[in-house]
Amino acid sequence: MRLYQLLPALPLAAAFVITEESVFDKIEKSGRHLVDTTQNVLDDALGKTAEFEESLNEDPHLPPHDGPPHHGPPHHGRPHHPPHEGPPNKTVYELISKSKYTTKLAKLIDEYDDLVELLNSTKANYTVFAPTDEAFEKIPKHGDHKPSKETIKKVLLYHVSDDFYPAGRVLHSYTIPTLYEPEQLGHKQRLTVRVTLKGPTINFYSKLVAVNIFGTNGVIHGVDSLLIPPPSVAEIIDLLPGEFSTLELGLAKTGLYEKINSTEYPHEGGTLFAPSNFAFKKLGPKINAFLFSKYGQKYLKALLTYHIVVNQTLYSDAFYDATSEDGAAAEISRPPYYHFDLPTVLGKPLAVDVARYGPFVEIRINGFSRVTVHDGVASDGVIQVVSDVLIPPKNAGADAIHWNGEDLSVDEFKERLEPFVGNEDNMEL
Ligand SMILES: *[C@@H]1O[C@H](CO)[C@@H](O)[C@H](O)[C@H]1NC(C)=O
Ligand SMILES: *[C@@H]1O[C@H](CO)[C@@H](O)[C@H](O)[C@H]1NC(C)=O
Ligand SMILES: *[C@@H]1O[C@H](CO)[C@@H](O)[C@H](O)[C@H]1NC(C)=O
Ligand SMILES: *[C@@H]1O[C@H](CO)[C@@H](O)[C@H](O)[C@H]1NC(C)=O
Ligand SMILES: *[C@@H]1O[C@H](CO)[C@@H](O)[C@H](O)[C@H]1NC(C)=O
Repeated sequence: MRLYQLLPALPLAAAFVITEESVFDKIEKSGRHLVDTTQNVLDDALGKTAEFEESLNEDPHLPPHDGPPHHGPPHHGRPHHPPHEGPPNKTVYELISKSKYTTKLAKLIDEYDDLVELLNSTKANYTVFAPTDEAFEKIPKHGDHKPSKETIKKVLLYHVSDDFYPAGRVLHSYTIPTLYEPEQLGHKQRLTVRVTLKGPTINFYSKLVAVNIFGTNGVIHGVDSLLIPPPSVAEIIDLLPGEFSTLELGLAKTGLYEKINSTEYPHEGGTLFAPSNFAFKKLGPKINAFLFSKYGQKYLKALLTYHIVVNQTLYSDAFYDATSEDGAAAEISRPPYYHFDLPTVLGKPLAVDVARYGPFVEIRINGFSRVTVHDGVASDGVIQVVSDVLIPPKNAGADAIHWNGEDLSVDEFKERLEPFVGNEDNMEL
C-alpha cells in the first residue's frame, strides 16, 4: 500500500495545487497585513494551547470533557505568554504521552522504543508536529489493510524535526527538515509551511491548531491532519492533471516520463521546474502545435530537459547539493539575495535568483520567470511550479540573451533550441 493512499488522493492533490498563484500574489502585495492576520490565528491557536497544556495535569485515561474548558472563555487578543508558569519540566515525549489530545499519537510512538528514547532524550531540541486524535479520525478505513510497522515509522518520523522551530520560526520558514530521509532524496524530507488566509498550514493541508507547547527538549505544535510523506516527483505530476497534464504529455512523448518514473533512475534529489498548463498555453497555439507534432519532438525533448536539475535540490530556504564532495546542505538564510546557476539535463544552466523580503521569498529564473507555487516536496526531489515555460537564451556573441516574455514566432523559438537538437544522447538523466 502506498503511503499517500492512506488519505484519499484527492485532498492531497488539491492541497498541493491550492490556487497558490493568487494566494501568493496577495501575500506579496499585502505581506504585513497577512502576517497580522496570522498573528490572530496564532493567538487563537494559543488559546487552545492553554487547554492542551491544562490537560497535561489531568488523568489521560478519563474521557475528555466536552463543552467550554473550566478556565473560562478563551481569551481574545494576545494571550499571556507563556501560558504556563515556570520552566517546562517534561520532555516532548512525556508531553505527548500525557496529553488527552494526543492519545493516538502516543500509542503509535510507544510501539517504537527507539522513537520513545529519542523524543525523551536531550540529544537535540526537537520540534514535533503532533496530530491530534481528531486528525487520526480523518483517515479512511481501508478494510484490513493496516500499513506495515516500517511504513508507520516513516510517517511518524515525518512529524519530527531535530531542529528547534518555535511558532515564530515556523511562520518565517518555507520548509522544515524532518527526521524522515527517503533513499532517492538523499537528504531530510522537508515539510512545507504556507501562510494562508486561514492561517498557517503544513504541507498545504494540515492546520496548526495549537502552538508552542514547550518541553525540556523541544517544542510541540498540534496539527489537525496527519502529515503523509509525499510521493515522487513523477507521481505528483501524474496526480495533478489540472495543473500538469500538458507537461506530463510532453514528458511521456519524449520518453522522459518513463525515465523519471523509473525506480532504476539513479539520483539523489533534484529539482523540476514545472510549467503549469497555463504556462504552456502562454506559448501560443503555433508553438504548441509545433512542439507536440512529430517534427517538434526533438525540440520538445530539449526544451523539457532544460527544466530538469538532477542531484541538486533547491527549496525556497534550503539547498542540497549531492554533487558537492560532502553532499552539503546549505540553508539559504543569507538575506536578502542568493544566486545559483543550476545545471540542467540539457547542459545549459538555469540562472536562479532567490530573494527574501522579510518572511517572503521570491524565486526568479533567467531573470524573468517566477516560481508561482513554491516547494512541492516529493520523495525524490522538489517541484517548483513556474509561471512560464523556460526557454534557453539566445547566444549573441559572448552574451546570452534571455527570453523576457516577448512573443516568439515558431522560427525564433526553434532557433533557441537548435544548438541542442541532435544532442539527445547528452540529454540522459
Ligand atoms: C511541573 O510544572 C508544573 C507547572 O508548569 C507544576 O505544576 C508541576 O508541579 C511541576 N512538576 C514537577 C515534578 O516539578
Ligand atoms: C523520560 O525521561 C525522564 C527524565 O527526563 C525520565 O524520568 C523518564 O523515566 C523517561 N521516560 C521514558 C519512558 O523513558
Ligand atoms: C537546546 O536548547 C538549549 C537552550 O537554547 C541549549 O542550551 C541546548 O544546548 C540545546 N540542546 C541541544 C542538544 O542543542
Ligand atoms: C509510474 O511507475 C509506477 C511503477 O513504478 C507505475 O505503477 C505507474 O503506472 C507509473 N505511472 C505512469 C503514469 O506511467
Ligand atoms: C546523480 O547521482 C547519482 C548517484 O548519487 C549518480 O549515479 C548519477 O549519475 C548522478 N546524475 C547526474 C546527472 O549527475
